Amino acid sequence: MKVEGRWRRAIELADDGRSVMVLDQARLPDQVRWLRLAELGDVVRAIRDMHVRGAPLIGAAAAYGVAIALRTGVALDDACAQLAATRPTAVNLRWALDEMRAVGADPDAAFAAAARICDHDVARCEAIGRHGLALIRAAARPGRPVNVLTHCNAGWLATVDWGTALAPIYKAHEAGDPLHVWVDETRPRNQGLLTAWELAAHGVPHTVIVDNAGGHLLQHGEVDLCIVGTDRTTRDGDVCNKIGTYLKALAAHDNQVPFYAAVPSPSIDWTTAAHDIPIEERSGDEVRFLAGVEIVPRRSPVANPAFDVTPRRLITGLITERGVASPAGLAAMFPDLTERAERAR
Ligand code: MRU
Repeated sequence: MKVEGRWRRAIELADDGRSVMVLDQARLPDQVRWLRLAELGDVVRAIRDMHVRGAPLIGAAAAYGVAIALRTGVALDDACAQLAATRPTAVNLRWALDEMRAVGADPDAAFAAAARICDHDVARCEAIGRHGLALIRAAARPGRPVNVLTHCNAGWLATVDWGTALAPIYKAHEAGDPLHVWVDETRPRNQGLLTAWELAAHGVPHTVIVDNAGGHLLQHGEVDLCIVGTDRTTRDGDVCNKIGTYLKALAAHDNQVPFYAAVPSPSIDWTTAAHDIPIEERSGDEVRFLAGVEIVPRRSPVANPAFDVTPRRLITGLITERGVASPAGLAAMFPDLTERAERAR
């Protein structure tokens, strides 16, 4: 996608061939700053402190983290253990580390594998864009743009390119289909502002709303469909995503508005049940402070669960790289991957 007039990916191999450049998402949307990750510790910090974030991008960064670690003399198991401990919920992290473990300890092979993981991520997201475009077109009503509501940031910043939930939106915009995006602010980390930044850069009409506004807009016919991303979707089609997704799905269901999740296959956990998904509990300071100002009374405790699970009964469909599946039909769409997961048990 275009950053300051140049086509870039959210993660790129640096010119030295031994480190990677990532767009620093902790600085966006105020500043466009690229970070060089040259050692395992840089990659661990970047993921843990959310300079890189979004499930597919976390996977891609971890893959390069393994390659960088091997090149600098860190053992494969040690590198994987450190990277696995960075963030608990996005299953793409575990998936990428499993892929890298299978490649082995040769640094050249590991760099090639990490590059492949990135290229495949781009291809998957692009395919999700094509399949999702048909859903946007199906929701069109004469004489007005299609209004899509999205939560968090599941755009190209959260992946290597294209995004998951935003890929169909970019495809529709590219094709000249009139559309408008409602962007949930997504407190407390405000990933919606990253979505707004991306959409603005591409000229996609959008409006930022506070997280509590979605129900009202859904009730008043202002939303034609919802598309969100996922950090982990179970084989049964339950969707774990950024906190607040569940409430949007409930409100969409109550108002008969289609609710889709964009699910690349590395975001599917074939073995863990919904109630066993580890939900990241982040620092309470993210809630307590707003733009550096303490807004919560000192004596009041805060809680900060970062993800929730939307049960499949609230989900209209899952947009995968192979097509749109009903939640109950997800496993049937990926017989090869379900079989592989069974064998690995
Ligand atoms: O905590 P984050 O910002 O890493 O959250 C993950 C997400 O970006 C979202 O939950 C997203 O919808 C899934 S990743 C495409």
